[in-house]
Amino acid sequence: MYTRIISTGTYLPEKVLTNDELEKIVNTSDDWIRSRTGIESRHIAADGEFTSHLAEKAAYKALEAAGLVPADIDLIVVGTCTPDRMFPNVACLLQERMGITGPAFSLEAACSGFVYALTVADQFLCSGKSKRALVIGAETMSRLIDWTDRETCVLFGDGAGAVILEASDKPGLLYSDLGADGQHRKLLYTETGLSNMESSVEGHLKMKGNEVFKVAVRTLESMVDKVLLENNLNKGQIDWLVPHQANLRIISATAKRLGLPMDRVVVTVNKHGNTSAASIPMALDTAVRDGRIKRGNLILLEAFGGGFTWGACLLRY
Ligand code: UT7
Repeated sequence: MYTRIISTGTYLPEKVLTNDELEKIVNTSDDWIRSRTGIESRHIAADGEFTSHLAEKAAYKALEAAGLVPADIDLIVVGTCTPDRMFPNVACLLQERMGITGPAFSLEAACSGFVYALTVADQFLCSGKSKRALVIGAETMSRLIDWTDRETCVLFGDGAGAVILEASDKPGLLYSDLGADGQHRKLLYTETGLSNMESSVEGHLKMKGNEVFKVAVRTLESMVDKVLLENNLNKGQIDWLVPHQANLRIISATAKRLGLPMDRVVVTVNKHGNTSAASIPMALDTAVRDGRIKRGNLILLEAFGGGFTWGACLLRY
């Protein structure tokens, strides 16, 4: 038994925050943000708009694109590090609102959350436990941000992307590889969580950006070398790279290692900044809907994020 992605969907909150607007909040410039990251703007969830609301809207777009209704789904897996609450988990909130039955859970692997979620859902489907999964990456990163910290507040944004993954007798998802290494935990973290809560600390995201940058490039390079080797692929043989959207310079370094020109890389970071687990399914959806990604294309999804966690999924779309 194999699995394949049958449809995709995206939701971005209406409010857009541009680099020019950020110049009025912290000591930064449009030029610095564009040249160091490639980001032009990001979307910010409205008051009362939570991760599950973004996820639900992306899920309905994916269902609509597949011509399916919620009752056709029997598994929900959501990658998120910004859940509405600890429990019910985001997937259970969606299940109740959308009227879906079957297992429903969220997993937390920061920016790698979607590749982790897709890999886990694939295993449910390949084992025959489920038939059709809603796999989502959804985040409200703006809620973790210290808006006085110019080193992080210019980078992140909110959004959600969804795919429907279906059991299939033909291979779609061909290979996946997940990794983690907790030893760099002090380079990218939140100050508190629910079990480690200090009332004097607000729980903001903290990052030593340039150190994260170096580990990210190094880890992604060795991961894509492994993907090529283990799948008997030569450089340049992948049709589309759909990377996690954190920084255009990290994306370009990975593309170079794969021997791909930038016109075979899906880049959306300019429009929404780093949306953590949401970025890969949103980028995939963008390129599917604008016709760049076609059925039969060989696609590599890859991510790196807090933990550190990382992962890659190679698929025939
Ligand atoms: O999602 C997965 C995990 N996250 C990532 O993958 C992010 C990885 N890191 C990065 O993307 C980059 O390291 C950043 C975009 C965060 C920073 O770029 P950088 O080229 O590594 O810059 P830097 O941190 O070395 O800072 C260079 C300078 C510093 O000033 P000095 O010390 O040279 O005078 C910073 O204080 O830029 C300064 N700076 C800023 N200037 C204007 C830092 N943030 C800003 C800012 N505006 N927003």
